[in-house]
Amino acid sequence: MSEATVTVTDNRTGKNVALSIKDSVYGEAVVDIAGLPKELGLFSYDPGFVATASCTSAITFLDGPKGELMYRGYPIEQLAGKCSYIEICHLLLNGELPNTEQLRKFKHTITYHTMLNESLRNFFNGFNYDAHPMAMMCGVVGSLAAFYHDKLDIHDAEHRMITAHRLIAKMPTIAAACYKHNVGQPIIYPRNDLSYCGNLVYTMFATPCEDYEVDPVAEEALDILFILHADHEQNASTSTVRLAGSTGANPYACIAAGVACLWGPAHGGANEAVLKQLAQIGSVANIDRYVAKAKDRNDPFRLMGFGHRVYRNFDPRARLVKETCHKVLAKYGNDPLMELAMRLEDIALKDEFFIERKLYPNVDFYSGIIYKALGIPVNMFTVMFAVARTVGWISHWMEMMTEPNQKIGRPRQSYSGPQKRDVPPLVERK
Ligand code: CMC
Repeated sequence: MSEATVTVTDNRTGKNVALSIKDSVYGEAVVDIAGLPKELGLFSYDPGFVATASCTSAITFLDGPKGELMYRGYPIEQLAGKCSYIEICHLLLNGELPNTEQLRKFKHTITYHTMLNESLRNFFNGFNYDAHPMAMMCGVVGSLAAFYHDKLDIHDAEHRMITAHRLIAKMPTIAAACYKHNVGQPIIYPRNDLSYCGNLVYTMFATPCEDYEVDPVAEEALDILFILHADHEQNASTSTVRLAGSTGANPYACIAAGVACLWGPAHGGANEAVLKQLAQIGSVANIDRYVAKAKDRNDPFRLMGFGHRVYRNFDPRARLVKETCHKVLAKYGNDPLMELAMRLEDIALKDEFFIERKLYPNVDFYSGIIYKALGIPVNMFTVMFAVARTVGWISHWMEMMTEPNQKIGRPRQSYSGPQKRDVPPLVERK
């Protein structure tokens, strides 16, 4: 059978070019346009990359129209029901779920990398007491390269893996230190007898003055949230990590770039924005007014926690987060914001504007309510997302580093500036 192609005709010249079509295991086939500049002298133009696959990846697949998500081929619902976050880290990083012995070893490795170099603690003293924790996290994560340059040869597979372990292990310790700095309490050292999420709860909320017991409901809720946030194929922050990594930049710098990108309200900052917006809406009586604002094309207001570039159906993660939300609130007492969120979801899902555009609640719609119930402040929500997503970022970075034809990521542009002109002398300039 001949190779599948799509033919592009340049009607200025009549020249035809056959572009080869490459099948994907799931999802849309892709057209290889790399030959366009040479064959036709043209570049593709695709702002926001709405029609562009930037790479081939074997890590995560999401089916937008069906609302399905898989890590390494396993459906997210099964992973969330049967595995712990640390098993998911192993799966994303190594390609397979661990067996009992692999899990024991992996847990041990991650646990024994959770401490920070003691000098790093001094960094926090340099930040203003009310610094946003995402600002601190960007800086501190980038600085890790200054401490762990013993294993920074990006062409060495062992160095890459140790760096991945260090990042996964140290992110919760950094997150908790950001929080402690904000509340003016001493940074707490992690404990090797606690689980990954147990340690995060402990290092955030324990103080040196008394014993602290981690609540299993909080630990389990975080574990589920982290599984759901662990990876999401070529989202903005992952693409940022890949782009930074394509230059040969060190992995700590790449992950810091990912943290910075995640911070935006259209991406990971949405969980913080959702909670602020629910507070702004205030009561069920005001929902209609805010839904009308969201539908008004002349008003930039958007319902935060709604919509997704790829999902044109329910975000499968949102269903699972909603279930977890109910469990957490059963223990910690109901939150009027939950009732407000459910009413808002209900009204929006029945509204023609949202139906037509296939806008459904996304993963961030309910996650903030869980964090709030657990006593985590709003400005820490995106930090929690960053901790969970680190394994996804570093898995993509590792995948990219082993590609045989890896190239620097360098998009082109369609120039819209002034035409060529001469520089006028200073006195003649207006
Ligand atoms: N509220 C109201 N209208 C919306 C919303 C929303 N949340 N999202 C999209 N629309 C409208 C938009 O105005 C446009 O309408 P029209 O066709 O009339 O111009 C249409 O739906 C398509 O929107 P778009 O902006 O072209 O879609 P996009 O794929 O570029 O943007 C998005 C995706 C997630 C940035 C966007 O839906 C959004 O801003 N949502 C709110 C922020 C949010 O919840 N982000 C978290 C995403 S999930 C977690 C993560 O990735 O970190």
